[in-house]
Amino acid sequence: MTAKLLDGKQIAAEIREEVAHEVKKTALELGRPFSPCLVAVLVGEDPASQVYVRNKQRACEKAGIEGRTVRLPAESTQADLMKVVQELNEDATVNGILVQLPLPKQGNGGAGFDEREVLDAIDPLKDVDAFSPINVGLLMQGRPRFLPCTPHGIVQLLHRCDISVAGKHVVVVGRSDIVGKPMAMMLAGRDGSCGREVANATVTIAHSRTEDLKSVCRSADCLIAAVGVAEMIKGDMIKPGAIVIDVGINRVDGKLVGDVAFEEAKQVAAAITPVPGGVGPLTIAMLLHNTLLAARLQMA
Ligand code: GUN
Repeated sequence: MTAKLLDGKQIAAEIREEVAHEVKKTALELGRPFSPCLVAVLVGEDPASQVYVRNKQRACEKAGIEGRTVRLPAESTQADLMKVVQELNEDATVNGILVQLPLPKQGNGGAGFDEREVLDAIDPLKDVDAFSPINVGLLMQGRPRFLPCTPHGIVQLLHRCDISVAGKHVVVVGRSDIVGKPMAMMLAGRDGSCGREVANATVTIAHSRTEDLKSVCRSADCLIAAVGVAEMIKGDMIKPGAIVIDVGINRVDGKLVGDVAFEEAKQVAAAITPVPGGVGPLTIAMLLHNTLLAARLQMA
């Protein structure tokens, strides 16, 4: 068997088109120019973060969203960064704020930044990453305001590929605040942003201390790999006919690879996301979606 490829790039393009259409439609309804504004805060010179922020900015412009970047040197202090966040919170022309992670380890006079304090300071109505405790809490209670971009992109991908997980066993490998934890909550809920078929799953969160990870993974009808370890999920860890979603973006010898050993996995799985071109583009598409949502919430 060779797995069907789940084309995240194509689906992300569809979603971006939908956002662009909604932006234009809102301007017509309002009878005035309407361009939501997203500001990315980039601290330091990390090459990967610079690429991510540039890609986000380009995607914004194509969707009729204003994308700005505030750059701070790596040697900035915690107070400098907190001041920028406060100013963006108070700036009525700014609808969405994202602080690109990771923050440089050597910043804040060598002590490193307090990431938690920075993320907690973002106005929850502008928190398009959905990292603030308010937005995480609302999600936990099944009444989300913003959905975190990567897990929401995966829900959209499953829905638009007609894949149901209701009643099925989903194993999420990885327990990060950004992907693993919210992903598990969203798929275990009664209802989701795409209805009841991409929800209602029986979810297991596996992690670095999970005993017999291979058996746990092999019991998954849908396996979501979000560990950040290149090609850790081998072919023999996948149930024949399973759906495999690879969230990993790892650089090995200059090449991008996922958390799943793709060549082995595609011989076993029914469907799989490639890296690149799978989950990555969906994260940006959902960020645009959240920026539009933020602008609308702030008008209400
Ligand atoms: N770094 C890696 N992924 C993300 C993300 O989704 N949001 C932010 N702000 N930083 C990231």
